[in-house]
Amino acid sequence: MNDWKAPKTIVGNVATGKYFYPRNEIVKEIWIELKKGNYVLIAAPRRVGKTSIMRELERDPNPGFQVIFKNIQSIKSAKEFYKKIYELLLQGFSKSTKVKKWLKKHLLSKSIAEIDIKGSVKFKNIEVDFVSEIETLFEEINNFDESSETILILLDELPEVLHNLNKSGKKEEAIEVLKQLRTWRQGNIDKLKFVLAGSIGIHYVVNAIEGRNSDLNDLKNVECSPFEQAEAVDYIQWATELSTVKYSPDLVAIFLTKIGPYFTPYFINILLEEVDKQARKAKSSDISEVTLNKAFEIVVKHNDHFIDWKKRLSDYLPKKDYAFVGEVLTHVAHREHISIQEIYDKAIAHEKETDYMDFMSDLEQDGYLVEIESSYTFISPLLKAFWKRNNPVYNG
Ligand SMILES: Nc1ncnc2c1ncn2[C@@H]1O[C@H](COP(=O)(O)OP(=O)(O)OP(=O)(O)O)[C@@H](O)[C@H]1O
Ligand SMILES: [Mg+2]
Repeated sequence: MNDWKAPKTIVGNVATGKYFYPRNEIVKEIWIELKKGNYVLIAAPRRVGKTSIMRELERDPNPGFQVIFKNIQSIKSAKEFYKKIYELLLQGFSKSTKVKKWLKKHLLSKSIAEIDIKGSVKFKNIEVDFVSEIETLFEEINNFDESSETILILLDELPEVLHNLNKSGKKEEAIEVLKQLRTWRQGNIDKLKFVLAGSIGIHYVVNAIEGRNSDLNDLKNVECSPFEQAEAVDYIQWATELSTVKYSPDLVAIFLTKIGPYFTPYFINILLEEVDKQARKAKSSDISEVTLNKAFEIVVKHNDHFIDWKKRLSDYLPKKDYAFVGEVLTHVAHREHISIQEIYDKAIAHEKETDYMDFMSDLEQDGYLVEIESSYTFISPLLKAFWKRNNPVYNG
C-alpha cells in the first residue's frame, strides 16, 4: 500500500502539537498551585510526559502569566544558573510592550553592553551579581507597574544540573542554588514562579547533596500519573484515528493487557509503532493478538529505548547501591513480585538494612516498580521483559 498511514505517535522526543494528547487535569492542577503562590515540581516516574506537559503550559498560558520554557541540562555552575535565569527573565519581560520600553532604558543604565531580543545578554568586562540584578529587576518593575505579569519559568532538568555540580566537586554551589530557589519562593519575589521537572528524580539528587532526610517541602508536587484505563482506551483510538492500522475494541482490550496495568503513554507508543511496522511489513492492515505478541517480543529484543533505563541507574547510583537495586530488579523480573521480607533479606546481604526502603521508594518514584499490598512489581511488562532478558540467570 502506497498511502500507508502511521499512527499519530512520537517516541522519545517530547510530544507537542498534533502528537500531544491533552492532559487537562494535570495542567489545571499546576495552574491552581501556581496561583496559590507555589513552585511546582511535576512529580512523575520517568517518561510519563513531564516535558510534554511543560510545553503545553508554555503553548497555552493562563492570563497574567508570561511563560518561558528552558532545558538547562548543560549548566555547569551556580553563576551560570543565575545568569540563565536573568536572561530568561529579560526574555519574558521583553514580551510585554510596556515593560520592554522601560527595560531598554534600564539596561542601558546598567553594566549591560548588549542584549538581543531573545534575551541573550553580553556584559562589559565586569563581575555581575545576577542574584541581586534579578531582585532589583523585580523591585523596580513592581514599583513602576504593579499590574505586570508574573514570569513563569519552566525549568527542565534542574536535577541533572544539581547532580553534575555535585559530581564535579561543586556541592556547595548545588546547595546554594537549592537555597536560592527557596528564598525566592518564600516571598521576596512574588512575580516569579517556577515549574520544575527532570528526567532523574530530584529526590536522588537532593538526598545525595543535602542528606537523606532533607525535604523538598518548598516545592508543591503535582502528580503526573500514567493514563487511567479509560483514558488509555481513548488514547489508542485517538492515536490511530487516521492510521491504516485500526484497533477493534476487543483488540484494544488485548493491547492493554500487554501494556498494563499502568498505562504510560511512552510504552503504549512504543508498542503501537512496532505493531504498525509489522503490519506494514506484512502489507496488511489486518492485525490480531499474534501481531501484538510478535511486536512485543521485537520491542524487548531490539528496542534501544530501554538500554537507557539500565544505564541511568548505574550512572546515578554508587556501585554498592546499584548492586542492591539491580538484584532487587532482577528478582522481580524473574519472580513477578518481591515482598518486604525478601527485600529485607537482600538488604542485609548488601549492608543496606538502614535505608533499604528509601531505595524502594526511589525505584517507585523513578518509574521502575510499583507497590501493591506491600509487594513490588514492575510498572511495565515491557520493562520487566527487558530487564529479564538482560539478566537471564537468577538463583536467588
Ligand atoms: N501527552 C502525551 N501525548 C502523547 N504522547 C505522550 C504524551 N506524554 C508523553 N508521551 C510519550 O512519552 C514520551 C516521553 O515524553 P516526555 O519527554 O514528555 O516525558 P518525560 O516525563 O519528560 O520524560 P523524561 O523522564 O525522560 O524527562 C514521548 O516521546 C511520547 O512517546
Ligand atoms: Mg523530560
